[in-house]
Amino acid sequence: MQKSKPDRYGTLAVSIHWLSAVLILALMGSGFRAANAMDAATKIDILRFHIPVATVVLLLTAFRIVWRWRFDLKPRPVAGSPAWQERIAHGIHVAFYVVIFGMVASGIAMVVLSGAAAAVFGQPGAMLPNFTDYPPRALHGLGGFLLVALLVFHAGAALYHQFIRRDRLLRRMWFGN
Ligand code: HEM
Repeated sequence: MQKSKPDRYGTLAVSIHWLSAVLILALMGSGFRAANAMDAATKIDILRFHIPVATVVLLLTAFRIVWRWRFDLKPRPVAGSPAWQERIAHGIHVAFYVVIFGMVASGIAMVVLSGAAAAVFGQPGAMLPNFTDYPPRALHGLGGFLLVALLVFHAGAALYHQFIRRDRLLRRMWFGN
């Protein structure tokens, strides 16, 4: 049940995939809201959600990589998919990992360099810095943009399989048999 089989992902991989999807969407929403927040108090409230959720995503992603590469079985490519499509799909999956780790690293760097942790986590009188004064902020913005592009491409490919190729690809990444 927990491990993947040649024709489908196992319960653990499916759970991590959908939990990560929900949390990453929450990070995108809260990140863009934080960046556009008009006052410091609102930005702080949002970051108190954004940073812990990002920590959970980091742990889930690290666990997912270890589980996939060391313990899980790898499902076969979808029957009938041309090799070039498989290569693109693989590239997109690797890009997701790179961008997620890049977002976490640039987020941490931004908070450490700016000294924002004191204001975000409640030290009385601490002022929230202007994040755009720090170079990792630009990388965080670029990563957010790349993540939107990857998510659109990834979801578009899943819908193409589901509704145009009709090869029931989404069944492989859902619970049950
Ligand atoms: C997978 C992990 C993460 C994702 C997907 C993510 C996503 C985002 C996005 C999309 C934005 C808006 C960027 C923009 O408008 O240009 C943002 C802003 C922000 N993120 Fe993250 N983030 C992640 C991790 C982190 C971490 C680990 C931290 C800090 C420890 C962090 C701190 C911030 C801060 C402080 C802002 C607001 C910047 C500002 O107000 O200018 N993020 N995030």
